Amino acid sequence: METTGTIRLGNENFEFPIIEGTEGEKALDIRTLRAKSGHIMFDEGYGNTGSCLSQISFIDGEKGILRHRGYPIEQLAEQSTFLEAAMLVIYGELPKSGCLDAFRNHVRDHASIHTGMHHHFDGFPSKAHPMAILSAMLNSLGAYYPEMSSNDREQDLVHFDETAALLISKVRTIAAMTYRMKQGLPFVFPDRNRRYAENFLHMMFSEPYNTYIDSCGAADALDLFLLLHADHEQNCSTSTVRMVASGGANLFASVSAGVCALWGPSHGGANMAVIQMLEEIHAAGDDGSRFIEDAKNGKAKLMGFGHRVYKNYDPRAKILGKSAEHVLSGIGIDDPLLDIAKHLEQAALEDDYFVKRKLYPNVDFYSGILLKAIGIPVEMFTVMFAIGRMPGWIANWKEIAENPKSRIHRPRQVYTGEPQRDFVKLGDR
Ligand code: CMC
Repeated sequence: METTGTIRLGNENFEFPIIEGTEGEKALDIRTLRAKSGHIMFDEGYGNTGSCLSQISFIDGEKGILRHRGYPIEQLAEQSTFLEAAMLVIYGELPKSGCLDAFRNHVRDHASIHTGMHHHFDGFPSKAHPMAILSAMLNSLGAYYPEMSSNDREQDLVHFDETAALLISKVRTIAAMTYRMKQGLPFVFPDRNRRYAENFLHMMFSEPYNTYIDSCGAADALDLFLLLHADHEQNCSTSTVRMVASGGANLFASVSAGVCALWGPSHGGANMAVIQMLEEIHAAGDDGSRFIEDAKNGKAKLMGFGHRVYKNYDPRAKILGKSAEHVLSGIGIDDPLLDIAKHLEQAALEDDYFVKRKLYPNVDFYSGILLKAIGIPVEMFTVMFAIGRMPGWIANWKEIAENPKSRIHRPRQVYTGEPQRDFVKLGDR
């Protein structure tokens, strides 16, 4: 195997080591490029740039493989739970039963939020987007735990286990409270006797006079949804968390930034956009065929399709597609959106435009149909993604914080603006 690679600039050769990951991916280590040659690499969108060494998740986009800490996502989806997978992602190993119980108890103990924070909800207009509220509330949460959000890495790491369990627990409470506030409904307090996803549904949908009962396997389906979102390598929001963490910021601030990055429609916001797209197709009396033509002509984008890394099926989409169908038939709902989605998928998979560009359904294609069937309003979809992604953000923050050699993330740029010029006085312009 080659151990070095050469870059030739003009008449000069510059040699760099090749590093290889445990799954065989190779990278040219150009950390000394600028010092040696005066050049930098230009890679807008970072499609060819490895920003870190990481031991958390592995994706082979060409083969449609996703593994967390070595375990295939299909096995985790089949045999694990969100909280167990969260521990795996954060700590690197499947937990022994005592550790898992201790973690579950930690999460249970931290389910409520400080009553001072209840008043924060009064300040938001009911039209506020839940992602804006979530990001603000997660950052504010740090203010209630100054010992855990000191921005002194050693001290923040001393409290890491508690902070991790606290965030995984409270992100769910804040999400449910956001929904209740926007609906003008009283807050429902967490119930210690309910499991993670079931407790969320209770805080969302129970009433003082009518306790939520899960009669259609909604909690299990939601747990699966969360598990499938637990981590996904260096995506936009996770890289944002690492970027913020690299400056030494605490975990609350870092995940709050992750929520902002997740919000956009090219990333986590796509799950909302998929349902909006399916509803528009349905309202127009289209079965998806006209929309496919629009997508091919650049007039529309097939939301929930395509991925920067997967050039094959996103393995999470396959699992969620089956789960959505299962939940819908369990509830006895015949959702026309599911039929449109299936038709779109079939048509796109057979169409030259999508085949050539290797565009396949991604995780967001079926997740909205599943969430809608459970009763989650569309506006909350991206918040659900954020609850699921919390373990991955936490694990990536930990990787940065525990690395004594970690440097602040500070990319370079190629300046294309005006060359130097002299200031012109206001009256002379
Ligand atoms: N519908 C129609 N055409 C598409 C789509 C799509 N969804 N996605 C990509 N293309 C085309 C694109 O126009 C381009 O065509 P051409 O070569 O003729 O210019 C080609 O495919 C390559 O696309 P790209 O824009 O270079 O791909 P990218 O890697 O920069 O973008 C993406 C990836 C996910 C942002 C994009 O596929 C997209 O916008 N998809 C829809 C939004 C979506 O579902 N996002 C969720 C991603 S998965 C969850 C997550 O991790 O956040």
